[in-house]
Amino acid sequence: MATVWVLFIFLNFDLLLKTGQCAETSGQVLSITPNSQEQVEILKNVSIHYQTVLWQPVSSDYIKEQTQVHLYVPANSSQTVNDLLHRHSITYEVMLSNADEIIEMQMRNDSTDPRSGATFYQRYHTLEDIYDWINRTAKDYPNTVKVILVGSSHEKRPLYALKLSLNNRPNKKAMWIDCGIHAREWISPAFCLFFVHYSLLFYNQNQAMTQILDNMDVYVLPVMNPDGYKYTWTNDRMWRKNRFPKKGTPCIGVDLNRNFDANWCTRGASDYPCSEIYCGAFPESEPESQAVANFLRSHKDSIQIYLSIHSYSQMLLMPYSCTMDEAENHSELYEMVKQAAENIRRYYRNIYTYGPGAKTIYLAPGGSDDWAHMLGIKYSFTFELQDRGRYGFLLPPSHIQGACNEALTAVKTIALKVMEKSQASTSSRQTV
Ligand code: ARG
Ligand code: ZN
Repeated sequence: MATVWVLFIFLNFDLLLKTGQCAETSGQVLSITPNSQEQVEILKNVSIHYQTVLWQPVSSDYIKEQTQVHLYVPANSSQTVNDLLHRHSITYEVMLSNADEIIEMQMRNDSTDPRSGATFYQRYHTLEDIYDWINRTAKDYPNTVKVILVGSSHEKRPLYALKLSLNNRPNKKAMWIDCGIHAREWISPAFCLFFVHYSLLFYNQNQAMTQILDNMDVYVLPVMNPDGYKYTWTNDRMWRKNRFPKKGTPCIGVDLNRNFDANWCTRGASDYPCSEIYCGAFPESEPESQAVANFLRSHKDSIQIYLSIHSYSQMLLMPYSCTMDEAENHSELYEMVKQAAENIRRYYRNIYTYGPGAKTIYLAPGGSDDWAHMLGIKYSFTFELQDRGRYGFLLPPSHIQGACNEALTAVKTIALKVMEKSQASTSSRQTV
């Protein structure tokens, strides 16, 4: 009997050693640069047929030679994927070896970590917390903040925008900012919350902010894709699309930033429902994109600036993303993003690339920024915020403040520039 026990322990010890040696206990993020067409094909295959999530590029169709691929590999498939890469002599760098730990860190909040010195705006928040915050903010600032219900999501969650109106000047222009189109880009809703807070706190304190808010109202939609955002907290941190269930396929979700009516579903989007860049059944097929489009249509005479906040890759993008053609006001938009990037570099020593989306990243039709521009909102932009190269979508809470400050600098630069232009044009009209 004793020998049986010894044998049993021995065998299991051996097993323990084996798993301890090779298997990862945490999800990882790999940075892989394929250097042959064969390696490209293997990577496409891995990202499609193995349990992994492609972070960059957004779809396996865009994997190409000599271009970095960022791949999230969960713990349970890391052994298989690592073996496969080794077998084909594909070299890679580990961007993040402890993804699970960072995900856990991102989800930590007051109740789980009361000693953390971080303020509300230096943490990520659940959808429920964000809804509470919206109500609280409106209650705390009854004269300046209004909650507007612009629509509801597929799963019937409300889409609330806050209207900040800090003085009562007649015929004010407005700026629209939306966050959280893509569920996993958590820094985006965090920016919207921070921006509202900053505006309310620094009106009459910070000169640029005061000037901006004296001249325009600001609409802020903190979470455009609440179903997806909720899902990233409860089921899958890497979820991107909304949660539209497509009958007849096992695949869920439409990419809301491919669902607008701007060269809809041409090259750069997919009509395959399982794709991360699925464009939906028709333009504005999704309640979330339709709600935003309806609101912008009915306010297009006052809204001068459209801003959509995404992550990651540190870019300030302007139209167009849906065509290689130049926007009719290309040079003034280019001047604005250039100046915004220069200010970020000067104040925060961080480099943002800038330019029209199609030429700066990739063709991406059906985007909200292009659609808003075509509607007549001439100053239309998409910002891609931090990280600075290691964390991707898993930007630790300690980096929220820095990322938001950079984006705020860009918003201020652009808004001031737009105001300067419209003031110049009204005064010239007056003098004529
Ligand atoms: N990363 C964003 C996306 O893939 C880029 C958006 C650029 N603008 C656009 N209209 N596609 O959706
Ligand atoms: Zn995005």
